Amino acid sequence: MNNKIKIVLVIIIFAGGWILGSNNNTAPVITSSMGGASYSGGYQPEAQAAVQAEGAVALRTEQGQIHLVKDGDSIQAAVEAAQPGDTIQVMPGIYSETVYIDKDDIHLLGVIQEGKRATMDGLGKLNDAILYSGNNVVIENFRITKYKGNGIMGQAGNNFEIRNNVIVDTGIYGIFPQLGTNGLVEHNVVSGIEDAAIYIGMSDNIHVAYNEVFDSVAGIEIENSRHAIVEHNNAHNNTGGILAFVTPGLPIKTTEDVIIRNNFVLNNNTPNFGAPGSIVSGIPAGTGILVMAADDVIIEGNIISGNKTAGIIVNDHSFATTITMDVESDPNSDRTMILDNVMLNNGYDTIAEVKAVALTELHTGLVDIVHVGSSEGSCIVNRHRYRAVGIGNYGDCDFTNTDSIDNYLVAGGADRRVIHPSERGEIAYLGVCTGCHSYTGRLIGPSVQVIQAMYAGNPEALVEYINAPVKKRDNFPPMPAQNYLDAETQMAVATYMLALEK
Ligand code: HEC
Repeated sequence: MNNKIKIVLVIIIFAGGWILGSNNNTAPVITSSMGGASYSGGYQPEAQAAVQAEGAVALRTEQGQIHLVKDGDSIQAAVEAAQPGDTIQVMPGIYSETVYIDKDDIHLLGVIQEGKRATMDGLGKLNDAILYSGNNVVIENFRITKYKGNGIMGQAGNNFEIRNNVIVDTGIYGIFPQLGTNGLVEHNVVSGIEDAAIYIGMSDNIHVAYNEVFDSVAGIEIENSRHAIVEHNNAHNNTGGILAFVTPGLPIKTTEDVIIRNNFVLNNNTPNFGAPGSIVSGIPAGTGILVMAADDVIIEGNIISGNKTAGIIVNDHSFATTITMDVESDPNSDRTMILDNVMLNNGYDTIAEVKAVALTELHTGLVDIVHVGSSEGSCIVNRHRYRAVGIGNYGDCDFTNTDSIDNYLVAGGADRRVIHPSERGEIAYLGVCTGCHSYTGRLIGPSVQVIQAMYAGNPEALVEYINAPVKKRDNFPPMPAQNYLDAETQMAVATYMLALEK
């Protein structure tokens, strides 16, 4: 293998690039991690060849210039100078800023040297580390810590790759692509997050692989999203490990076709420290995998152990006390398919609701699987291997594995999202505000209905608020300023929010 790792290939990749530093320092040579090459921890010539043949998730129009950012420089300044196709290489150092990427084809690459990373430090004051709304954006190798809102948030960008970042103690969401199609979230280590370490929101065709998530409320969340695979992750010591569910009151109302396979889901018993009233604040500590109001979820090949409430909880919305129902969301979890998993020592100190279901079946002791609520078409393989309750109506699955499905990514890349001026308000609402506001109930912020009552007929005042929010409610966190949105988008989103009817 070693003789195959040829610097030549690396040079080819960046040979086309100009190097734009603030002085004549040259950018370091980086081995490529595009197209899944980093699955093996480094550069693979074969994988690179395959990428060139087929295209990676984030298809880049052309190899542009390289902008070098050094300790003390501003990453945002480099983003502003960059053209689509450019790579921004950020040297190890401390960067305390928020970076907004509103262009397509930007590759933001932290350089790791002798274990030192480009570190974004929010100092406990800044809201977000990296927000992107462009298509085909790649973000790799950063260390991100002490932000209050998001580590990396995508706002309606398609074809994204978020890879090999270390995100520690960073507010509400660690990695949060919202409203994106075709994206890869892999090899990240995320911990200490108050809501979800990795939160896939209202997205399609997503692959979440080889991440480690821990010490957070929710480890990995697939929410109001379709065609997602969550595999080879290690979700441990969260309140809940891996979750696929529907949050009601959001404009996209389904979670479907999710495969959760070959993950470690261990000891997710951390006491819930989610913001009071938020949906995740209702997750009982000790939840391994949770399926709630999601359909066609396959759970296969996971090692699920030491989760004190239950290894797998499948339920409907009525189970969750922190949820406001939405008549347009089907509250049931249909067609849950539980294939072979290894489950040990789950449910050893469970909650009253699970005990109640167990009691109706005269079951005592450990609980690997519990299903609460009605459901159609669910099935299980080798049910005798588990301590399960509530699965009396599960059939036997007529298949035993998902080997024929590699991923749900879009071959050749998804179409880029192009936002027509008339859609600005809607897309900003979907891509930004719904991360914290739902129409009917409380999420991180108050419901849209509450906001409409306060600001009816006065979008100007709403714009003023989102530009410079002031703290109003004791029992809510502060709202981050949305002043990076341009004035037209702000007015469009305010008008859109006030006119919403569901
Ligand atoms: C990271 C989470 C988050 C995001 C994203 C967010 N908000 Fe908020 N918002 C909040 C929180 C939390 C509050 C409550 C703040 C308080 O009461 O101090 C709030 C409150 C509000 C209010 C009520 C203001 C008042 O006078 O009480 C409005 C209006 C609002 N948000 C609009 C928006 C719009 C529009 C967007 C999208 C462009 C948005 N928010 C995005 C978290 C968020």
